[in-house]
Amino acid sequence: MLRSVILAASRSAKVERAVGSAPISRDVVRRFVAGTTTDDALRATRELLDDGLTVTLDHLGEDTLNEDQANATRDEYLNLLAALGEQGLSHGAEVSLKLSALGQAFDEERAESNARAICAAAAAVGTTVTLDMEDHTTTDSTLAILARLRKDYPTTGAVLQAYLRRTEQDCRELAGSGSRVRLCKGAYKEPEHVAFQAALDVDKSYVRCMNVLMAGEGYPMLATHDPRLIAIGEDRARWFDRSPDEFEFQMLYGVRPEEQRRLAAAGYTVRVYVPYGTQWYGYLMRRLAERPANMMFFARALTSK
Ligand code: FDA
Repeated sequence: MLRSVILAASRSAKVERAVGSAPISRDVVRRFVAGTTTDDALRATRELLDDGLTVTLDHLGEDTLNEDQANATRDEYLNLLAALGEQGLSHGAEVSLKLSALGQAFDEERAESNARAICAAAAAVGTTVTLDMEDHTTTDSTLAILARLRKDYPTTGAVLQAYLRRTEQDCRELAGSGSRVRLCKGAYKEPEHVAFQAALDVDKSYVRCMNVLMAGEGYPMLATHDPRLIAIGEDRARWFDRSPDEFEFQMLYGVRPEEQRRLAAAGYTVRVYVPYGTQWYGYLMRRLAERPANMMFFARALTSK
């Protein structure tokens, strides 16, 4: 119930204005967001790489409604990738994109050409791109754009969400050689006819999808903080004889950082999803919805300032 209310608020411009202007402690945002500038993103990347982790960077922003904003997002990614290359960080850091931030809602072709420019810049510095997945109304469009991008940039990856009923089949289609799939549970409020609603059903779907990807020929990226699913991931890696360079675990910046380091110390490849930028509202609300304890942390910070 609380999750539904927070997820509904995450799409409300009115609540965004109220929260954005509230005197929130910077610590609340900083727990999940690396900072607002490119320099903040680069600093966080360097620190994580020094700790033996790898990184994917997300310039925060979504649901862009005009061409100027979409182009500005593209340009920020181009700057970021150039800086990663210049500073020697691109060996361990890739980028994650939301197609809605590049214009998907009003001009799919523009979103694709912006994404293509970012893929080219990533390839130029020896790294790659993963397309985030947003609500289910965008899944077909995002997978179609992925297929076209992969013709020129074969290492481009995508996110699949285990809560969607369609995802096991999507995993089958994307489990081939060269494919990179980030498997997560799913963070949006979705209707029953497209998505499992019970946590147990989502977890079971995650395991079925993981089995398909780990048995396949692509590169599975297991994005979860769930201890049970991580243990099952370790088990499947042994079962399918995948070495640490043949799959990876992924977690969000600020979530279970000790576990991120434990897995890396055990020899696994661990990638941290690092968001940065000023448009943190939607991202932060989805993180709060995942865990009531985070909501209490947020509420205390709002009332104590
Ligand atoms: P679950 O939410 O069940 O959490 C399991 C345990 O992990 C909790 O009991 C708690 O201990 C810990 N935990 C989880 N979330 C926490 C939090 N916010 N704060 C503190 N502890 C927490 N979604 C999407 O729809 N599209 C996308 O493109 C992406 N991309 C993405 C990339 C990466 C790298 C990750 C890790 C996740 C995403 N997600 C996403 C988000 C994903 O769908 C999901 O909402 C979160 O990962 C939380 O689900 P868990 O699998 O962690 O399980």
